[in-house]
Amino acid sequence: MVSLPQPQVLFTNEEVKKAVVRLALEIKRDYLGKELLVVGILKGSFVFMADLIREMGLPVEVEFVQLSSYGTDKETSGRIKVVKRLTTPLRGRHVLVVEDIIDTGLSVNFLLNYLSKKKPASLKLCVLLDKMERRQVPVPIDYLGFAVPNKFIVGYGIDWNEKFRYLPDVCFIE
Ligand code: IMP
Ligand code: MG
Repeated sequence: MVSLPQPQVLFTNEEVKKAVVRLALEIKRDYLGKELLVVGILKGSFVFMADLIREMGLPVEVEFVQLSSYGTDKETSGRIKVVKRLTTPLRGRHVLVVEDIIDTGLSVNFLLNYLSKKKPASLKLCVLLDKMERRQVPVPIDYLGFAVPNKFIVGYGIDWNEKFRYLPDVCFIE
């Protein structure tokens, strides 16, 4: 049997849930009376987004996009493609992008550019984890859960080679 790395807890599910409550309140306050479309980036954001929209208590609609970048198992190459597209027009809509983790910033930078060309009424970004030490291009984060050290993160939807997404805590591996 191949031995997997042992994830160690960085933030417990309880700590993550507290951050989600805080973010949901901020978002709710900012979008009160507006129709919000929440766009999740697959696959890593699905757990965070599911918790976030239920905590927000706004009548949001949801969409997903999926990006691909050729690279190693732990790093993006910077050559990014949209592999799963939106199924609805963004023109004139208030759009909130939800991402699990920002590392170099290349993926989200690309996506925000791509989405802004679709002329939404507004475009904002909500991110659970920011590995700011690794940033290569600036990313305007409107709502942030936690800053994280330069470690490889797994759990709470986030994977290493498709493993560990199911873990309820935010963990890291060596
Ligand atoms: P970036 O384009 O370098 O900012 O990378 C962003 C994407 O890479 C995220 O959406 C994640 O899917 C993935 N990623 C970056 N850092 C990690 C990590 O520590 N663990 C798992 N995935 C990561
Ligand atoms: Mg991702």
